[in-house]
Amino acid sequence: MANVLVVGSGGREHALSWKLSQSSAVDTVFTAPGNGGTRDNVFVAAEDIGGLAGFAEKNDCFTVVGPEVPLSMGIVDLFRRRNLEIFGPTGGSAQLESSKIWAKQFMKGNGIPTAGFEVFDDRKEALEYVASTPHPVVVKADGLAAGKGVFVCSDAAEAGDAVDAILGRNVFGRAGSRIVVEERIDGVEASYIALCDGDTVVPMAASQDHKRIYDGDRGPNTGGMGAYSPTPAVDAEIAAKIQSRIIEPTVSAMKGLGLPFQGFLYAGIMVRDGEPYVLEFNTRMGDPECQPIVMRMDFDLYEYLLECSRGRLSRLPAPRWKSQSAVCVVLASRGYPGKYPRGEEIAGLGEVRDGMVFHAGTRRDSGRVLTTGGRVLGVTALGSDLRDAVSRAYSMADKIRWPHKHCRTDIGSWGLSGADQAAL
Ligand SMILES: Nc1ncnc2c1ncn2[C@@H]1O[C@H](COP(=O)(O)OP(=O)(O)O)[C@@H](O)[C@H]1O
Ligand SMILES: [Mg+2]
Repeated sequence: MANVLVVGSGGREHALSWKLSQSSAVDTVFTAPGNGGTRDNVFVAAEDIGGLAGFAEKNDCFTVVGPEVPLSMGIVDLFRRRNLEIFGPTGGSAQLESSKIWAKQFMKGNGIPTAGFEVFDDRKEALEYVASTPHPVVVKADGLAAGKGVFVCSDAAEAGDAVDAILGRNVFGRAGSRIVVEERIDGVEASYIALCDGDTVVPMAASQDHKRIYDGDRGPNTGGMGAYSPTPAVDAEIAAKIQSRIIEPTVSAMKGLGLPFQGFLYAGIMVRDGEPYVLEFNTRMGDPECQPIVMRMDFDLYEYLLECSRGRLSRLPAPRWKSQSAVCVVLASRGYPGKYPRGEEIAGLGEVRDGMVFHAGTRRDSGRVLTTGGRVLGVTALGSDLRDAVSRAYSMADKIRWPHKHCRTDIGSWGLSGADQAAL
């Protein structure tokens, strides 16, 4: 029996811990630092990669990394140097996420479909460019910005403000010392995640995330307010195009660069007129996409991640997926993604009988569960179809209460609306 260490503290990490703990080959799943929903929490921060290596060594753990920051810091390189088994990309491979400029140049150089772009480090040059470019643009800080570094602009004035914020006022510090200005692509967004061992690619179930804070995709972007899987945004034809034009060429080009990609390769996709374009790569599972995806897994995730980390995915059969739909509705603290209150007591958790309540920004305090973060819980249900899963997830969500609870009421609605699907 093996021990597992899951690194991170969000809903994604609770979902991974939960799924990994179901493996008959797994003894204890530790989570560092974990949250109010994860068991066997270890009080080491996700960025303390030396501390994590020490814990994994002492407790003989196979380590699974959830978030991007330790990956970009080189947690995988450090563990490998110490002969510790770990799942995730090296710091070099994680550049696909940690530098948007690196990723754009990689895509351009390898013919992977993505929006046209320019790179700037000079405010004045960037301002001149956005004032003169004829099409709408998206302005992105180069480095990791916790999902806040992207400005989808509707006109040149907004684009100028975004340039001023990043290159003028340095609101993202070093992560914003350079920017990408890219063409805005209007279409339908989806998340396509594949497990890669450097050579072999095993697609995970496709999903769709809801990034804006309010119903109808209004308000500022968040880390994600809900997700569901499968999604009509990625039908068999689109999935085949994403595999052959995006995922496979990426994996083979990374290998060619001497940076074989091992881990979850997440392509944020925009589908326009039936053609997929990469908006960005992430080098890890999505949060909240992970929550509905793990609910649909009909295989031993531990076995897949372990074999993946050993470069032996091709030995495993194709994973089986439940045909049911899964929906995750994120319950947040009102005010998020801006300021919000913390420390509110969550009631009603014991009344939920269906699905899984994955914790994110919570902690336990003498038997009570308190809010600590913007995104607090991800209530996740399986259903016979999307409509059934949506209704189950919302009846779970209704039972859970705290003073500043906020959630969107339209998670999954795009997938349910035939009219929008016809527009694909
Ligand atoms: N070229 C683009 N055209 C239209 N929308 C975009 C484009 N690039 C990004 N977006 C929107 O902005 C969001 C965030 O951008 P993304 O590149 O995924 O950065 P991050 O997740 O690091 O904030 C995307 O989910 C998408 O909704
Ligand atoms: Mg993104």
